[in-house]
Amino acid sequence: MQVEKAPPGVDVSRPSIARVYDAMLGGKDNFAVDRSVLERMLESVPDIQIMARDNRRWVRRVAAWLTSEVGIDQFLDVGSGLPTVENTHDVVHRIDPDASVVYVDNDPAVIAHGRVLLADDEHTFFAAGDLTRPDELLADPAVTGHLDLTRPLGVLHCLTLHHVGDEEAHRIVRGYTERMAPGSYLAVSHIRLPEPDDARRAGFMAAMAGYQAASPDFTPRRLADVGALLAGLELVEPGVVPVVEWWPEGPPLGEPYEFAEFLVGGVARRP
Ligand SMILES: C[S@@+](CC[C@H](N)C(=O)[O-])C[C@H]1O[C@@H](n2cnc3c(N)ncnc32)[C@H](O)[C@@H]1O
Repeated sequence: MQVEKAPPGVDVSRPSIARVYDAMLGGKDNFAVDRSVLERMLESVPDIQIMARDNRRWVRRVAAWLTSEVGIDQFLDVGSGLPTVENTHDVVHRIDPDASVVYVDNDPAVIAHGRVLLADDEHTFFAAGDLTRPDELLADPAVTGHLDLTRPLGVLHCLTLHHVGDEEAHRIVRGYTERMAPGSYLAVSHIRLPEPDDARRAGFMAAMAGYQAASPDFTPRRLADVGALLAGLELVEPGVVPVVEWWPEGPPLGEPYEFAEFLVGGVARRP
């Protein structure tokens, strides 16, 4: 059996969310244990890798829209994941080279990569932290040293909130939005729970059960419940929709595919 080498602190005996997602995106920072989760998911939802790719496209569209159309010049990308092709700072800095981008994650593999990759970047930073503790995170000098929380900020919560239960998700969102200056934006992408009468629900849930090995509290939500997370904020048109349909300035991207409606996202402004 081939033994895979891992950076210090990276546990290859159990799958990790960040590494399973990296495997979905065709990255190289994953291990056999992560790929076996992906293989199980693919048996029930063959579109899962297209969904991951479309989520990345959406993150890029949102980052570009916030920078170019709204003029946001500081970003907190929470639960940022392993570096991949065209990360948030690549998109933002093409439009505004002086914008500040802070990535946050708690996965040891992401932390190792983040620190090395960004060591020489004057405008992009990495904070090792727990996204479920917004009060601590937003007081961490690794964040406050680079972002001015008294000014509008873009907070990206992409494919993060379905890793926690309902009460937690609402508490976490409040923890960020209460500390964001008026005029700040929150972007959320999220796995959607198929309705009970949807014939695809059983297969979808079987695939997601595999993911629970990496994320025990995994909680896909109905569309209205994802929208409820953004209550009290001003929703940007077209609201919380399948991410392939979210593009205020242009047509939907990509070809339609069967499970596209189960990856949803929305952007909202703090009034
Ligand atoms: C599915 S990935 C999404 C990555 C990226 N946001 C995107 O949309 O492409 C979820 C990420 O959230 C991170 N994450 C999960 N729970 C976390 C926590 N409590 N604190 C910090 N990061 C966390 C994982 O390590 C992983 O990198």
